[in-house]
Amino acid sequence: MSKVTVIGAGNVGATVANVLAHRDIVKEVVLLDIQGNLAKGKALDSWQQAPIGNYSTFLRGTDNYEDTANSDIVVITAGVPRKPGMSRDDLISINAKIVNTVTESILKYSPNPILIVVSNPLDVMTYAAYKKAGLPSSKVFGMAGILDTARYRAFLAEALNTTPKDIQAILMGGHGDTMVPLPRYTTVAGIPVTELIGAEALDAIVERTKVGGGELVQLMGTSAWYAPGAAAAQMVEAIVKDENRIFPCCALVNGEYGLDEMFIGVPVKLGKNGIEEIIELKLTKDELQLLHDSAKAVKSVMEVYDQMTL
Ligand code: APR
Repeated sequence: MSKVTVIGAGNVGATVANVLAHRDIVKEVVLLDIQGNLAKGKALDSWQQAPIGNYSTFLRGTDNYEDTANSDIVVITAGVPRKPGMSRDDLISINAKIVNTVTESILKYSPNPILIVVSNPLDVMTYAAYKKAGLPSSKVFGMAGILDTARYRAFLAEALNTTPKDIQAILMGGHGDTMVPLPRYTTVAGIPVTELIGAEALDAIVERTKVGGGELVQLMGTSAWYAPGAAAAQMVEAIVKDENRIFPCCALVNGEYGLDEMFIGVPVKLGKNGIEEIIELKLTKDELQLLHDSAKAVKSVMEVYDQMTL
């Protein structure tokens, strides 16, 4: 694995490229944007950081898909970000067109890449890329769960006055307000979180996590980039190093959790082939109900997409 392309050199894309470069695990990162000079400038800036950041990964900025040829992994962040008052779903008509064009262009030059989608509304944009790419579902998936879980872990660490490093958690469902945090699967250094925090405080954290993206949009007037960028880079790392790490990712389910063919956040193993396995947790009836409610919300946006003429 030596070549990673990041489409979109905006806040999220540039962060993915920069975090990835600091990991020093790939030979080259290509940063592509329709604003070619922006991509060139950010790649050059990041490359000039290499002597200080102590990495060898070369960064190339471009607006020409020929430069992306034979990429092993492509991260798609192109699209418009959310503004105050918008839901992720509001972005669908603009970003669906962009994701379609981008996917088509990538496939022209890289016949068999792994695609990681970051553009929102995430579950549906992943579905769009999957349909356009014609690649196996193990090679097309979306980044959402790692970010949502990171937010949840960060809030918990603060409340418990401990480090996020020791907090392990899994979270499922769509990347929206219907996401399903699973306190039963949350531990702090192996200790069930419910032994360390009261139900009310935990509930408040769960609720804050669900609208974690919106909180940042309100604060900054645009959507977040440090945590989303780092989360996508972590997925790339797990694939490049063939780690088989277990992360919640937006993946195509087909019968798992009693869900028909659709993209939604589930725990998966990420390795050199992309999704090596979807893990089926033994959810309680209530947890499963929440997941199905979330699936219903995602499905309704998928239907909007299916009816669109692009
Ligand atoms: N091809 C390539 N790049 C494109 C295209 C396209 N067809 N259309 C737009 N872009 C680029 C823009 O030029 C811009 O530089 O995508 C970049 C998006 O960057 P930002 O506006 O900074 O948005 P960002 O915060 O990075 O979010 C991008 O990720 O998290 C999601 O919801 C977010 O969908 C949004 C996406």
